[in-house]
Amino acid sequence: MAEASLHKAKVAIFISGSGTNMAALLYASLIDGSPYDVVLVASNNPDASGLEIAAAEGIETFVHSHKGHSRDVHDAAMEKALLASGAQYLILAGYMRILSDEFVRRWESRILNIHPSLLPKYKGLDTYARAIAAGDSHAGASVHVVTPELDAGEVLAQVRVAIRADETPDSLADRVKFAEHQLYPRAIADYVSRGYNPDYLYDRIRALALTLPEAHCRDSHGSPGFRVGSEKSGKFFAHFNDQHHGSEHIAVLVKTSGMDELLGLIEAQPEVYFKPAYYGASGWIGLILNRPGVDWAHVEQWLQRSWRSVAPAKLTKLQDIADMF
Ligand code: GRF
Repeated sequence: MAEASLHKAKVAIFISGSGTNMAALLYASLIDGSPYDVVLVASNNPDASGLEIAAAEGIETFVHSHKGHSRDVHDAAMEKALLASGAQYLILAGYMRILSDEFVRRWESRILNIHPSLLPKYKGLDTYARAIAAGDSHAGASVHVVTPELDAGEVLAQVRVAIRADETPDSLADRVKFAEHQLYPRAIADYVSRGYNPDYLYDRIRALALTLPEAHCRDSHGSPGFRVGSEKSGKFFAHFNDQHHGSEHIAVLVKTSGMDELLGLIEAQPEVYFKPAYYGASGWIGLILNRPGVDWAHVEQWLQRSWRSVAPAKLTKLQDIADMF
């Protein structure tokens, strides 16, 4: 977390009502070491009491009533405020408007929501009454990525809340709220700092590397690596380094054509590339992953190219044929 807090993410929060989750997120952000700052609280409802809480803490607020406006016009006003705030993430906290598909696509993977059920159960409304009526032992809340389909994006974190005898929807809602206030700040902190989390970065590299033909994992000098070919005679095409040999970088090492290319790339884009200790002489270059704005398509291209440079001809020929289609 120390590393992550050096790179504070900017988040905006959209609310429609009391904004208690917004307040939980806001006060969590004011604790030392929070990996995010709240830069805007915006609402479609001028009476949302959360607006006052945010304003009292010196947070910028914005209101644009949806009444009398089409969804597109209202969304456009909200998005304009969002862009002006410099927010990198949009957090929905009791925002009772459905965002247009285009809006959601423009902010893909950067909009999060909290929903008062253990998703995938009970999407939509009346979640407490439905959980009680079903005789469930537990209700709860889920933080998920927002996609165009309602309450259907990847679930990032959940908290369970026991359903007691004689529970009513209201009594259950009160306790689920307490639980939400614990869950949401933690889930947001984890999500915005995952680009600095070696486990997350490794999982992503691993998933990309292992989609390449005949690729497998193999440790080398205490770091995980990826080879192509047989278990016995395969060749490395990538190494994953987590702050190896005193480096500050979490990186994937891939093969360039040689020293000229390696030095040229590092000179041109020192924020993207570096020369790893001990590997550099044989043309291995480091792609820095623990930085803002990593281009994962670019990382994927490098892995493919590196794989191709060491893969046996029979595999690269098959790949050439596959690439033609
Ligand atoms: C919460 O129950 C949340 O799960 C749902 O909307 C409610 C917002 O409550 N998405 P509050 O405005 O944060 O108090």
